[in-house]
Amino acid sequence: MSTVVSSRDELKQQIQHLLAEDLLAVNALLERQFRNPNMFVQDVAQHVGRFQGKRIRPILTLLSAKLYSPSHPARENAYRLAAVVEMIHTATLVHDDVIDDADLRRHVSTVHRRWNTETSVLFGDYLFSKAFHLAATTGDAEACRLIGRATDRTCEGELNQIAARLEQSTSEPDYFRVISGKTGQLFAVSCLLGARAAGATVSEQSRLKIFGNRIGLAFQIADDVLDLTESAESTGKDAANDLCNHRMTLPLLRALKLASETDRKRLRELLFSSEAADHQRLREEPLVRQGIESAQSSAELLIARAIRCLHPLPNGPARHALESIAKFAIHRST
Ligand code: IPE
Ligand code: IPE
Ligand code: MG
Ligand code: MG
Repeated sequence: MSTVVSSRDELKQQIQHLLAEDLLAVNALLERQFRNPNMFVQDVAQHVGRFQGKRIRPILTLLSAKLYSPSHPARENAYRLAAVVEMIHTATLVHDDVIDDADLRRHVSTVHRRWNTETSVLFGDYLFSKAFHLAATTGDAEACRLIGRATDRTCEGELNQIAARLEQSTSEPDYFRVISGKTGQLFAVSCLLGARAAGATVSEQSRLKIFGNRIGLAFQIADDVLDLTESAESTGKDAANDLCNHRMTLPLLRALKLASETDRKRLRELLFSSEAADHQRLREEPLVRQGIESAQSSAELLIARAIRCLHPLPNGPARHALESIAKFAIHRST
């Protein structure tokens, strides 16, 4: 199926059609990484691996490699790098759930709820460290440097998020700086590394990096909308967790921008309240609905700009699948 698809089911089929064998190889690699003779480590690893996430980052790595039809050894490195980005992502989630005091992740208890914070901190560190170890087996020192840099910036994004809350920042540049770090960086490097493993030129790699960063930003905006609109049953993670943590996300920033002085004060009080009922009120607020629409338009624009980046790249099934993923990165309920 080599077109840009128009439904989620078609997207799944398109990915399966193109990547079934590659995803099996990456899964096998991940399973090996998670296997451990130590019973406790094995228990935690099994818990975290019980339900897979969407695997969007490794899929982006594999498709970026597929654009350049790599030979067998290059494919092996693309598999390793796809597993690396998924492991780094999972490590950031384990730590992020501690930071956000979250109960639920991928439909099961977070590691710190199931065990304790010590386990989360150490298991997250363990995943980071195993990911870097696996990256080193590619023998590509530059790829390792790029992964290290992207991970630093992801952490900087999470740190900037804390600073933004301390300052009760309502600045959009602050918001974009946070999400470009915490989410954009790993998406960007996921795309770049696939192209790099498959022998793409430096300028092609940087095009894919920009594509990944834009999708990452749009993906995070969509996630911030889901926090306001969805239930835990649909996302598999806490509903309204950003509100519980008084996080000023783009839909709320846009709602504040649209509000009168009096409404702005009221909305801020609801956000900074510690009552769940106030957060529910905020979710139902018409101004927040408008803020959501405005944030969604910005996400659409980012996706359109991401897709434009792909145009000079080799045309074919992998590029069509990348475009399909871009389209659906913001139309989802999980
Ligand atoms: C969650 O990422 C964190 C964000 C950047 C919003 P995903 O939505 O990719 O999480 P999984 O891997 O599918 O669970
Ligand atoms: C965190 O963003 C993204 C990471 C880098 C882990 P969120 O806090 O919005 O992610 P979720 O909603 O917990 O998945
Ligand atoms: Mg979180
Ligand atoms: Mg979120």
